[in-house]
Amino acid sequence: MEKKKAEVIQSWEIVFPNDANQLGTMFGGRLMAIMDKTAAIAASQYAGRPAVTASTEAMDFIHPVKVGDRILTQARVVWVGRTSMVVKVDVIAENPITHKRVHTTTAYFNFVALDRDGKPCEVPRLILETAEEHQEYQIAEIVKKKAIERKRHILEAKEQQNNAPEK
Ligand SMILES: CC(C)(COP(=O)(O)OP(=O)(O)OC[C@H]1O[C@@H](n2cnc3c(N)ncnc32)[C@H](O)[C@@H]1OP(=O)(O)O)[C@@H](O)C(=O)NCCC(=O)NCCS
Repeated sequence: MEKKKAEVIQSWEIVFPNDANQLGTMFGGRLMAIMDKTAAIAASQYAGRPAVTASTEAMDFIHPVKVGDRILTQARVVWVGRTSMVVKVDVIAENPITHKRVHTTTAYFNFVALDRDGKPCEVPRLILETAEEHQEYQIAEIVKKKAIERKRHILEAKEQQNNAPEK
C-alpha cells in the first residue's frame, strides 16, 4: 500500500444569530456539523475515496464562540488503521474587529473509507515526519482504542439485553 502525507484542510465560517443557543453563543451541535464536514473532506482527500464518520471522540469545548466571530476549522488525518482514519479537528474563533484569535474546540473523529460497494477499504499508510506528528499519532491511537472498546461494551450489553428472559 502506498504511503502518504496528510494535508491540513481549512474552512472558514461566520457565526450568525441563527447559529446561536439561548445564551447568545454558538450552539455546539452547529459547530459539530462544521467540524464533521471539514473532517470528512480531510479523510476523503487522504483516502482518495469517500469516507464516512464512524464515531466521534473526545470533543472538548474549551471556550464559547460568539455571534459575529469568524471561525477557522482545521482538520488533518493523524492516525490510520487498515480502513479507518482518526482526524483531529481544531476550531479557532477570530474577532473580526480586533483579529484576536482563541482556540475554542478540539475533537477527534473516526472515519472509515468505503469502496464502490460501500464496504470498508484500505487507506494509504501515513507518513510521519515531525515530533508533533508522532505525538499526535500516539494520542489518536488512544482515541481509536477507546472508540473500539466503547463500541464492544455497548454491543455486548445490547446482546445481553436481547438474550435476557422476558419478565
Ligand atoms: C462505519 C462503518 C463503515 C463500519 O462498518 P463495520 O462493518 O462495523 O466495519 P468493520 O467492523 O469491518 O471495521 C472497519 C473499520 O472501521 C473501524 N470502526 C468500526 N466502527 C468504528 C467506530 N465506532 N469507531 C471507530 N472506528 C470504527 C474498525 O476499527 C475498522 O478499522 P480498521 O480497518 O482500520 O481496523 C459502518 O458502521 C457504517 O457504515 N456506519 C454508518 C456511517 C455513517 O453513515 N456515518 C454518517 C452518520 S450521519
